Amino acid sequence: MIDQFGRNIEYLRLSITDKCNLKCIYCNPDGKLCTPPETFQLSVNDIERTVKAMVRVGIKKVRITGGEPTVRPDLIDIVAKIAAIQGIEDISMTTNGLRLPQLAVQLKQAGLHRLNISLDSLDPVKFEEITGGGKLSSVLEGIDLALSIGLTPIKINTVLIRGINDDEIDGLIGLAKDRPIDVRFIELMPIGPYGESNKGSILTSDEVLAKRPRLTLLERDDKGAPAVYYGIEGYQGRIGFISPISHEFCGDCNRIRVTADGKIRPCLGQNGEVDITPFFALDEAEFDAKIADIIHHKPRGHHFNTAFNSKRNMNRIGG
Ligand code: 5AD
Repeated sequence: MIDQFGRNIEYLRLSITDKCNLKCIYCNPDGKLCTPPETFQLSVNDIERTVKAMVRVGIKKVRITGGEPTVRPDLIDIVAKIAAIQGIEDISMTTNGLRLPQLAVQLKQAGLHRLNISLDSLDPVKFEEITGGGKLSSVLEGIDLALSIGLTPIKINTVLIRGINDDEIDGLIGLAKDRPIDVRFIELMPIGPYGESNKGSILTSDEVLAKRPRLTLLERDDKGAPAVYYGIEGYQGRIGFISPISHEFCGDCNRIRVTADGKIRPCLGQNGEVDITPFFALDEAEFDAKIADIIHHKPRGHHFNTAFNSKRNMNRIGG
């Protein structure tokens, strides 16, 4: 559907859990928030109802996020239910990849189309430091398994942090040489204490590109997608840059978020949210009207470059 600023909102990012099996420095370094005490989360039925209503008001693509979605025991059921909804053209998931070796085949069978996998380092020791204990080999195994069974196209997401992993850019780019995957560098956003107090650690895409003339700009295939892609001669995959800070793309934003506890968050970079759980008591037409109204009022753009303090850390929003 078209929002108040004329943007076509057709992409839902649906968080299904706040929990995560890692504690990445820029998300939740003390780790406490990654395993929060049992809090309310939408049931499979609530999720299905919400997605169906979203589809009726114009959503065509769904991305399942968390937290880490693979820690939710009923993940496969959730994927199957969403994949079966008429009108969903694309269903993807963002994951840290740790559990892919166990889950990739079931996810494919349940109807998942493709994956985004977070990967901030190719050095096992540094990977463990950044993620608070993650095992790099499981993620790499997961990526290759997902590729081999066709959970594709696969996108790798790397949050670049000056002084932490900026020495790994070329290594990460190398993943795209012999694999048809997109490696995307994301600017550190001021969400949560780390990003908010380390704005000097943001590495802009222009800085990275200036040192790498072999990257050639590719034509934009999807205007709603935030990444700008570059190719390298002889490489199967592409290199993408997601630059919310240096090149704001809110004017083309086509997405809406639903948190695991049932709040619509229309903008990642603003705290506004609406609890949709009271709407479950309404009939279908009323439910749809409420959701359409919230989407219509999606704000113009993020507040990252002003005095923004996110009330939720990233695990409680969904990437
Ligand atoms: N800035 C940029 N990206 C972030 N992510 C999580 N927190 C931040 C942040 N502060 C990314 C993760 C993952 C996706 C879900 O969001 O690395 O790729």
